[in-house]
Amino acid sequence: MAVGYETLTVMILTLMLLVKQSVQLRSTHPLHEVVDRINHHSSYIGLVLAFPAEEIPLLNSGLFVLNSRNPYIHIAGRKFNIGKIKGVDVIYVLTGEQTVKVNAALTVQALLQTFNIRGIVHYGIAGCTNTSMSVGDVGVPHSFAFTSSWKWLDFGSEETSENELKFGAYNLPQSGENLLERIQFTPVQLFSNKKAMQELFWFPVDAHWYNLATQLQGLKLQQCLNETACLPKEPKVIFGLRGSTANVFMSNLAFAKFLYQEFSISTADEESAAIVHASLSNGVPCVVFRGVSDVAGGEKLALAGLSSLAAINSFKVAAKFVELIGKKKATF
Ligand SMILES: *[C@@H]1O[C@H](CO)[C@@H](O)[C@H](O)[C@H]1NC(C)=O
Ligand SMILES: *[C@@H]1O[C@H](CO)[C@@H](O)[C@H](O)[C@H]1NC(C)=O
Repeated sequence: MAVGYETLTVMILTLMLLVKQSVQLRSTHPLHEVVDRINHHSSYIGLVLAFPAEEIPLLNSGLFVLNSRNPYIHIAGRKFNIGKIKGVDVIYVLTGEQTVKVNAALTVQALLQTFNIRGIVHYGIAGCTNTSMSVGDVGVPHSFAFTSSWKWLDFGSEETSENELKFGAYNLPQSGENLLERIQFTPVQLFSNKKAMQELFWFPVDAHWYNLATQLQGLKLQQCLNETACLPKEPKVIFGLRGSTANVFMSNLAFAKFLYQEFSISTADEESAAIVHASLSNGVPCVVFRGVSDVAGGEKLALAGLSSLAAINSFKVAAKFVELIGKKKATF
């Protein structure tokens, strides 16, 4: 009798877990009940951004409507904002700055472990290493590399690999030897439930979501901040790119050129690869939209005031994508 009851309980619990298909807060967690209620209500798009300047366009757009009953929850020191964009359930969260890769991965893990998340949409600003792109354009990379994952070789080392940066090559007035020798770019381990550990250099965004995003190719982006402050040409959404992420604020033209020439990398930021990595680990789709706030070596002065169009336009594309995903509810 007792065994039968226990078996039944286990079966019911297993069924409940199968139905919910998400890991939730432990039952003793003070927020357990409220999170349960939020998850019971719906599944959400996790909208991830890094810092307040990227939140401004979201707030100014008026597109995000807070849930009146459960508007916010704080977990791991982050504020998770619960609401809707164009009728689609969304939870948005800021990862925070500095050691941003760690902050980004922690935030995504907390988001995925706490809430019922259909997938991650990440947007924000980026530096640009591709001189064919302009401030205000939005890049949609299909994959990202961690470009601060290095092996730093000792002077005179014979070791060679495909992707190396030789410091001596940048000596002035002419290239030669240098005690800093070389760095070799190294892959990063990816652990996930579905596959054995993989070592990856390129972390792909979700192919299905990326393909869906290509419908936004011709989306009209904002060119002007006001009547007088306008970008010289109409900004575009650009696909087929490779992006990079490092715990480095990169404002060095020679290194930007190296990234473009060696790896065909067009964007440089401090979060994307970590967010894609965390999504892959948890088997959740992810797509990334990065607005160009400055182009390495590009003209800076005239455009200084216009770089806020990078955040505005990246949010614009992200919000449109959320709307698109909302229409596809049944498929995901
Ligand atoms: C650089 O940007 C342009 C768009 O302006 C794009 O067509 C091109 O493919 C990019 N280069 C690389 C290597 O991705
Ligand atoms: C337009 O925006 C620019 C850049 O932010 C600013 O410097 C300028 O004062 C603004 N002009 C008007 C008319 O609001």
